[in-house]
Amino acid sequence: MASIRRTLSPYNDRSHHNGLNTTFSPQSPSQKLFSQGRTTLSPIRRFVAGVFFRKHQPRKSFQFSWRKPFFRCFMCFFLGFLLGMAPFNSDFNELRGDFRPSDFSLEMKPEVVSVQRSAGDLASVEKPKEDDLLIGAVELGEVERADKTDMKKVLDFVPGKHLIVVTPTYSRAIQAYYLTRLGQVLRLVKPPVLWIVVELNEASKETAEILRNMGILYRHLVCVKNNTDVKDRGVHQRNTALEHIEKHKLDGMVYFADDDNIYSLELFESMREISRFGTWPVGMLAQSKNKAILEGPVCNGSQVIGWHTNEKSKRLRRFHVDMSGFAFNSSILWDPKRWHRPTSDPIRQLDTVKEGFQETTFIEQILEDESQMEGIPLGCNKIMNWHLHLEARGLAYPKGWVLPKNLDVVIPSK
Ligand code: UGA
Ligand code: MN
Repeated sequence: MASIRRTLSPYNDRSHHNGLNTTFSPQSPSQKLFSQGRTTLSPIRRFVAGVFFRKHQPRKSFQFSWRKPFFRCFMCFFLGFLLGMAPFNSDFNELRGDFRPSDFSLEMKPEVVSVQRSAGDLASVEKPKEDDLLIGAVELGEVERADKTDMKKVLDFVPGKHLIVVTPTYSRAIQAYYLTRLGQVLRLVKPPVLWIVVELNEASKETAEILRNMGILYRHLVCVKNNTDVKDRGVHQRNTALEHIEKHKLDGMVYFADDDNIYSLELFESMREISRFGTWPVGMLAQSKNKAILEGPVCNGSQVIGWHTNEKSKRLRRFHVDMSGFAFNSSILWDPKRWHRPTSDPIRQLDTVKEGFQETTFIEQILEDESQMEGIPLGCNKIMNWHLHLEARGLAYPKGWVLPKNLDVVIPSK
């Protein structure tokens, strides 16, 4: 617009009036237009120029006429109306090479496909394969379906059976490692899981701290028993947990998980399938440590039909099950009628039996024979946990898990 105003300066006007353009001054296109308009333009163009470009002309008289402004106004309106009705369709836009709104749209339109198809007669343009198009559609469908299933999962969420994991523990050098390892496994198990950790005579600060920081549901119990035998190995602590479950009628699957064993996540999930009493084979190392052996059931489906047994000293056991090779319904402890138990005597681990017989004497209180057992997983053909021995009894116990002094630095000589 600025250039238009310049062309309308009295100077230019005057030079054109003379019909002479003696001074060489480069004219802008608009200047040319206007100058041409004065001489050779068609009547329509002259009219348009007259309407839009007001000239500075000395008024012939001071008499104000409404006719001209009104006419200009009307013409402006009319032209605007015509422009508004003009067909600004896609063809027009394509011709102009402008951006179309669809260029910014994220919507997938079949338009692109049809364009390629119609150009298919050109040898150089590769026709899109039907499969390509279908894959796109299927993927979208899958995503949608996955979303729906996720939502369904959230809405249909039914919490699995509670797991009540009982762990006797005692202070020793690698206790923190064991408890942390087991705690981290339990943290990966789908809730609800309750970890009952039992210590003898006092709750140690170190165990309490590990449990507090583990981020799982736990109960830290203390078993008060002054005279305990080394061979008891957690028997009284487990009994403290059983009393607790019985007293509070905790409902779930009870599992004795020693702190030093190795457990898979699958094991904990499988336990949720147990109804009354479940058992499975446990992997262990023979005394020579050069052979892996099994202890636990031999199954036909979930039916227990025999036992893996290794040590001669344990041959006389009724059930050849490891302490970490079975789990049972907690209501057996506090609801004997439901399970048709002949007595309502409390079910406890016995400290009077010889080593290796704790499990069988405990299980004998729960059931009568193998027909009341469920072997898991089907066929009992998988090792889901290991009972290994890594003795570290003699090691000093680091208070608070802090090293009192730095270890001697050993610099290897070159
Ligand atoms: C395992 C079983 O846990 C025993 O119940 C069983 O009597 C024994 O096998 C067996 O069949 O001979 P084991 O692995 O040999 O015991 O013993 P540890 O790992 O030393 O102890 C078992 C659990 O009791 C561990 O969680 C341990 O921390 C705990 N424990 C052991 C104590 O809490 N206090 C102790 O003095 C000893
Ligand atoms: Mn052990």
